[in-house]
Amino acid sequence: MLIVKTVKELKQTAVEVKAKGLKVGMVPTMGALHEGHLSLIKKARQENDVVFVSIFVNPVQFNNPDDLKKYPRTLDEDVAFIGDYADYVFAPSVEEVFPTQPSEQYHYGKVEMVMEGASRPGHFNGVGVIVRRLLDWVQPDKAYFGEKDYQQIAVIRELVRQCNIQSEIVPCPIVRELNGLAMSSRNRLLTPHQFETAAQIHRILEESKSQKDVPEIKAFVESEIAKIPEFKLDYFEIAEDATLQTVHSLAEADGVMGFITVYVGEVRLIDNIRYK
Ligand code: PAJ
Repeated sequence: MLIVKTVKELKQTAVEVKAKGLKVGMVPTMGALHEGHLSLIKKARQENDVVFVSIFVNPVQFNNPDDLKKYPRTLDEDVAFIGDYADYVFAPSVEEVFPTQPSEQYHYGKVEMVMEGASRPGHFNGVGVIVRRLLDWVQPDKAYFGEKDYQQIAVIRELVRQCNIQSEIVPCPIVRELNGLAMSSRNRLLTPHQFETAAQIHRILEESKSQKDVPEIKAFVESEIAKIPEFKLDYFEIAEDATLQTVHSLAEADGVMGFITVYVGEVRLIDNIRYK
């Protein structure tokens, strides 16, 4: 595996690889890699000839400066962890990616008005800014994203549609810790006690599946979360999978999911579950 630091080198490498007729897969990440990221990288490895992974803590998608400051940065470990699952790791500096302050504005319509879009103003614009650039520089045949950030996939699909990006967006299932907690780079910021407590999020969502309909599910999840003193609920929404618009009964849509964001101490964790 080779580490690429500059955009120029990244573009050149991608052009050379594609000139050989090789299929290219790309996995954008912000590093502090775990088995969830690795599952995307392995899938990319299976489905392509050459795999690019990017590791870049994108400042423009953080709406909270403290979150950006605390975000774990573990490049050496990450590179060792990826090993030969990827061919190229793009790990640029902020100046390399943003020689000037980016001013692009993306609008994704209704999918960005709810949940993460509503709770983190500017976040999805920042995601669009970086994903657009990465896909433009590498022009992969396929790009891999995790369903832990389900709304992010919806936003990226809309970005790809609007900008006529030719890459196929491949969604990948959530990978969990043994205790059920969705793997996340932010889990590294939890104390061992918080790590165990955080597993209750998935437990509560799983148990909520036995509730009758949307109002009961909502009431159950909200009251169970409220019972745990370390938790502060940001939001719990039940929405149609395709549009991410709120539903009031399970009969309202073919696919219905629950989306939750909980603060465990200072750490903001996100998860989701499918009801139908
Ligand atoms: P990051 O949080 O590092 O995640 C990189 C990719 O890994 C995302 O597509 C995310 O959904 C996926 N992922 C994270 N945890 C996962 C898990 N437990 N199971 C499955 N997939 C998981 O998401 C971002 O970075 C950024 O917003 C990015 C797209 C790189 C743009 O900066």
